Parts: sequence; C-alpha cells; structure tokens
Amino acid sequence: HKFATVLAGGGGTRFWPLSRQELPKQLINISGNDIMLNDTIGRFDGVIPLENTMVVTNASQAVLMESIMHISVPASNILVEPVARNTAASILYAALYIEKQYGDSLMVVSPSDHHITDELKFKKTLSDACSVAEETGKLVTIGIKPTFASTGYGYISHSKQSFTAEPCNVYEVTDFVEKPNFPTAQDYLSSGNYLWNSGIFIWKTSVIIENYKRFLPRLYHSMLPLCDDLNPEHHKKIIQEIYPTLPSISIDYGILERSDEVAVIPGDFGWNDIGSWDALGAIIPQDEFGNIVKANHVGIQTANSIIYSEERLISTIGIDGLIIADTKDALLICSKEKAQDVKDIVVLLKKRG
Ligand code: GDD
Ligand code: MG
Repeated sequence: HKFATVLAGGGGTRFWPLSRQELPKQLINISGNDIMLNDTIGRFDGVIPLENTMVVTNASQAVLMESIMHISVPASNILVEPVARNTAASILYAALYIEKQYGDSLMVVSPSDHHITDELKFKKTLSDACSVAEETGKLVTIGIKPTFASTGYGYISHSKQSFTAEPCNVYEVTDFVEKPNFPTAQDYLSSGNYLWNSGIFIWKTSVIIENYKRFLPRLYHSMLPLCDDLNPEHHKKIIQEIYPTLPSISIDYGILERSDEVAVIPGDFGWNDIGSWDALGAIIPQDEFGNIVKANHVGIQTANSIIYSEERLISTIGIDGLIIADTKDALLICSKEKAQDVKDIVVLLKKRG
C-alpha cells in the first residue's frame, strides 16, 4: 500500500495579513492557478491514487477546507486535529491511522505550501524515492539545491557516494540542521555541500513509528491509543482528550535532526516554499527595479520591494527593500529582511486579544 499525507493545518502566520487562522495560505490561490492545497493533491496524480491521499488539518479550518477543496478525497481521509501540535504530532497521527487500517505501508508526507513548476520531474523523483524507502527502509527526504541563505529551511549535508545503484543519486544524510541562524546559513550556502530539506518525506509507517518511539517517546506513548478505536464518535472523543496534552514540536527538530537513518534524493523540479512574503518572487516576476507587485500600484524611486494589495491603490516614493501587504482590514509594512518575523505580529495580536 502507498499513501500520501498532506499537512494542511498550519496557520501560515508568516503570510499575515493575507493568511489568517480560518483562511490560511494553503487555502488561498496565491499562484493564480488554484489554491495551494488543490495543487498539492493534484501533483500526486499517477503516483498515488486519490483514495489513498490523506489530509491532516485543524478543526478551525476543516469546514471551510472541505467546501473549497474541489479535488475530493474520501471524507474519511480527512484527519481533523482539535488543536495544532505541530508536524511531529500530525505525521504520527496519520502514520498510526494508516497502520491501523492497512498495516505497514509506504507513506509520502507533503506540506501544502509549495509551488512546483516541473510536475513530471517531480513525479519521477517521488517514484524513485518511493522505491528507495520501500527497499532500504530509510527515512527519505527530497533535497533542493539552495539558492540563498534562507533561515526558514532545514539544511542537509550528505555522503559523496550513492548507496543504491538504481537510482544512482541516493545519499546518506550526515548532518541535518533545522532553521540555522543567518551566518550559519551563509556558511552552508557558500560551502556548496548542503541541500535544503524540501519537507517532502517518504518512509514506511513501521520505520517512522519506530523513530518516534526512540526520539519522541512522550509523544509516541501519548499518541499510541489514538487510533485504537476508529468508530467515528469514539475516535473523536479520544482525540479530543489526547491532543491538548501533546508536546508541540516539528518533525524536523524532533526526528530528522536526531535519526541516523535519513537518506536524501536531490530533486530539481522548480521547487519553492511559498512560506513568507519574500518568497512571492518565485511565482510573480520582478519588474525592472526588482519589485514584485500584485497590486494596483504607482511608484517613484521604488525598488526591491514586495507590494500586495487586494483592493486599494498603493503608492510609494523613495522606498527600497520593503514588504507592503494590504488587505480589507489590515496593512503590513515590514522590512524584507524581517520577512520571517511576521509570525511574531500574529503572536502579539493573539496576546492582545
Ligand atoms: N495538520 C497540521 N497541523 N499541519 C501543520 C501543522 C499542524 O500543527 N503545523 C504545520 N503544518 C503544515 C503546514 O501547513 C505546512 O504545509 C507544513 O505543515 C510544514 O509546516 P511549515 O510551518 O510550513 O514548516 P516550515 O516551512 O517552517 O519548515 C518545514 O518545511 C521547509 C521546506 O518548506 C521544514 O520541514 C523545513 O526543514 C523545510 O526546509
Ligand atoms: Mg513551509
């Protein structure tokens, strides 16, 4: 059995004010093509059947998600978390669910906030990764050649030699560092020895569950009874009791940084994580002054800025390296270097109530 698990319960808070708790970025059409969640699910076509695609989401987003998701996976494939406990919990939930129903299976995990230009190449890399995970029992991640010193990604260094002959580009991960600080990211980039972690993982449910047992024992033991009883009412009750007690940690810090069973396959398919405002350049071309504009905008001496507006006319004079994002009820003005910190505004707003 082969399954896909799409993680779609994040708040997308670095994309505030466009992305909101109830309408996070994965449910928004940022690319101009479709909402990111539909794009993500559609990308597995031909590799993983739709009826084997699971979506893990949050209770606050589930209703809206089902109404705007036009690619329909079976209703029972939508796993709803009562509260968000980060990706380690979401992935273990799906792994336990799949194991309970179908026994040991191959599992592809994918974020829902990526943009991929070459889908054919993506499918080839994904199929290769599936065979490797199946045959070697490794935790496989797809690696991307870094293009700038991002502090928002995981960095991976790996062995020189492929450890399988076919495909011949599968490497042992020697170091995995999640979200390094800026100087470290610069060092990694200039060394040429690191790949970004794409966040797309391929493994057997039995192997990943063993890794939880070893590296996240508290999470593992708390979650183990979660899928014992899949009668919908009982299951809902159990999950509501257990979930709030779970530790909140990402799979990257919790397992990938610690496990020595990680392998990487480099992928080259035009990958971008549309995670924060500064990533918009991946899908919207720059103008001659380095601006990325999705707005009704007039500017004088305006350079290297990101300008987004839903309705109002935006006018700028003498600015460089700013993010300006205007929605009906909120306006963000932020220096481009601080794009990763937009999430802190959301934290502040929550505190303020
Ligand atoms: N269901 C659910 N529940 N989904 C979640 C939760 C949660 O509590 N938290 C996050 N997600 C979803 C997000 O919606 C997103 O699709 C995916 O999980 C990854 O979470 P992000 O918050 O976007 O992670 P990141 O971008 O900071 O970092 C990860 O992705 C990078 C590449 O895009 C890491 O894996 C990095 O190592 C990696 O480089
Ligand atoms: Mg992301």
